[in-house]
Amino acid sequence: MNASEIRQKYLDFQISKGHQPIPPAPLVLENDPTTLFTGSGMQPLLRYLLGESHPSGTRLTDSQPCLRLQDIEDVGDPRHTTVFEMLGNWSLGDYFKQEQIENYFEFLTQVIGLDLEKIFVTCFIGSEKYGIPKDEETAKIWQSVFKKAGIDAKIAEIGSAETGDKRGIKPGERIFFYDDHENWWSRGGGIETTPIGDPCGPDSEVFYDFGEDKQDLEKYGKSHPASDGARFMEIGNQVFMQYRRNADGTFSELDKKNVDFGGGLERLAAASLGSFDVFKISLMKPIIEKLEALSGKSYENNTDEMRIIADHLRGAYLLAAQGLTPSNKAQGYALRRLIRRAILKALDLGIAQDFLKETILTIESEYKTLPDSILTSRDTALTTLEKEEKAFRKTLNKGLRELHRLTRSVKSSADTAPRRAVLTGDDLFKLQDTYGFPMEISVEEAYKEGITLSEHWKQEFDQALAEQRERSKTASKGMFKGGLEDHGETTTKYHTATHLLLAALQKHIDPSICQRGSNITADRLRFDFNLDHKMSADELKTVADQVNAWIQADLPVVFAEYAKDYAKNELKAHGQFWDKYPETLKVYTIGDFDNPVSREVCGGPHVEHTGVLGTFVIKKEESSSAGVRRIKAVLE
Ligand code: ALA
Repeated sequence: MNASEIRQKYLDFQISKGHQPIPPAPLVLENDPTTLFTGSGMQPLLRYLLGESHPSGTRLTDSQPCLRLQDIEDVGDPRHTTVFEMLGNWSLGDYFKQEQIENYFEFLTQVIGLDLEKIFVTCFIGSEKYGIPKDEETAKIWQSVFKKAGIDAKIAEIGSAETGDKRGIKPGERIFFYDDHENWWSRGGGIETTPIGDPCGPDSEVFYDFGEDKQDLEKYGKSHPASDGARFMEIGNQVFMQYRRNADGTFSELDKKNVDFGGGLERLAAASLGSFDVFKISLMKPIIEKLEALSGKSYENNTDEMRIIADHLRGAYLLAAQGLTPSNKAQGYALRRLIRRAILKALDLGIAQDFLKETILTIESEYKTLPDSILTSRDTALTTLEKEEKAFRKTLNKGLRELHRLTRSVKSSADTAPRRAVLTGDDLFKLQDTYGFPMEISVEEAYKEGITLSEHWKQEFDQALAEQRERSKTASKGMFKGGLEDHGETTTKYHTATHLLLAALQKHIDPSICQRGSNITADRLRFDFNLDHKMSADELKTVADQVNAWIQADLPVVFAEYAKDYAKNELKAHGQFWDKYPETLKVYTIGDFDNPVSREVCGGPHVEHTGVLGTFVIKKEESSSAGVRRIKAVLE
């Protein structure tokens, strides 16, 4: 069964159970300023889930295109996509747990024909703090449903997903109780972060098992349904919306209890194919094949790049076909970002010619089934995207040419002093200002090509930018928001904040903490490090307070180049890949040079003093893989 057939079977099945089909909503919702894009099937139905009656009755079903930009950094693995279709069914104060679970199980096993041995489910373990009981009722229903199908499903009490990594699955276990990070649903995530006024409740997720050989013991520990890795994939989530969050943070039962079911069509199609890779399903395969043809390269050897391009262009097409145009603000900027990231990845694959048209035509045919009422600008979508591609390519080509021209001319005059700086902040500013070539791309290109930047390039760049702004004084501040200038400055700040975070963790939690991964966007930092326990609220507060104290002390940030041995043994700089570093490397020091707060091997860039960072706030601490924790933090 291909993905389109599965979508149709799902809708038909739900209709046979008394649901009314409703048309999907657009990706940009009017009257919902809380998110840029529709990210779940329930979002357009919020008012009805809070009690208003829906004109189509109390049983509804649809297939809703969704866009989750918050997952953009995860795209490239076998299952994350920013854009996907969410199959949905709702009970608005009508049926509840029993009927939902029975129907869903029937659909998965009878209609789609999934192997029931491969189905694993999860339930909510309860919250003492908020007086929300363990969802035994759901577990019992699952047990009886499995029993009727001839399976004796045992129950496992896991708690946090990380604990599960240690214990794995015991024979016969099929129903797993987890905490609110896994089995509580609100638009804000776990219990603590449930938005005031929103409907929410315990959920029960269904996972498909791709087999023990897909578990990566070294990276993720023993697999269990909610663990990371390729063995288990979530294919559906039944939210039992029993509660609403009050202004004082407590929860009250809703008068009318709802069911909110959502399941990713792409993932379900992958499970029905027995493929742990969603990019192999019928909706994706033609796009990947097109990319293989255009690049002359194979998916097997260029998996991440091709996944990213396929995903981003699906998103870009859907947005353009709904009438959005690329711009430097909000949704328009997201569209621009998707197109530009896809083009840059295509360049990595060696696709230098205009390639959007052919790829988009392939994507367009996939979306023929979406109604005209949401794809209001189908006819102009391709032109919109091609126009942006042309403009960005021009920018890139000119910028790259100019960057190499500038570099060459300095290089040839510098033969006698090969290590002198070859690109200055003024050069980078000129590239951005005159050629629209983003500063971050210049810096990346320079590092890739082994081109040195002048010692104070960032200061020079900022200075040139400030002077230019002073001169023109036209653009209002807001126009640059989300634009490329601010993006560069913000990510530089996050780089420095990451160094402070590591230093604070080493000082207060464990001196042996090392970086295991770092990822920075214009909106946040994400930092992975080794630690054997979940950090307590007190520990998190101590670390955040320390970082903020260092920010307030406005410490200097300096760097210089050193021989590797000296950096390691004399300066005791923190480094992750000593074996792989070149013989000469850059070391950043924060604070007093002889008694620094932080000293790390790093390519930069960084701010010049910590006082400009603002306030450091930890948003989330979670497990990343076995023995590795992940912190997400922002600067406010
Ligand atoms: N609203 C639920 C989700 O997004 C179904 O997972």
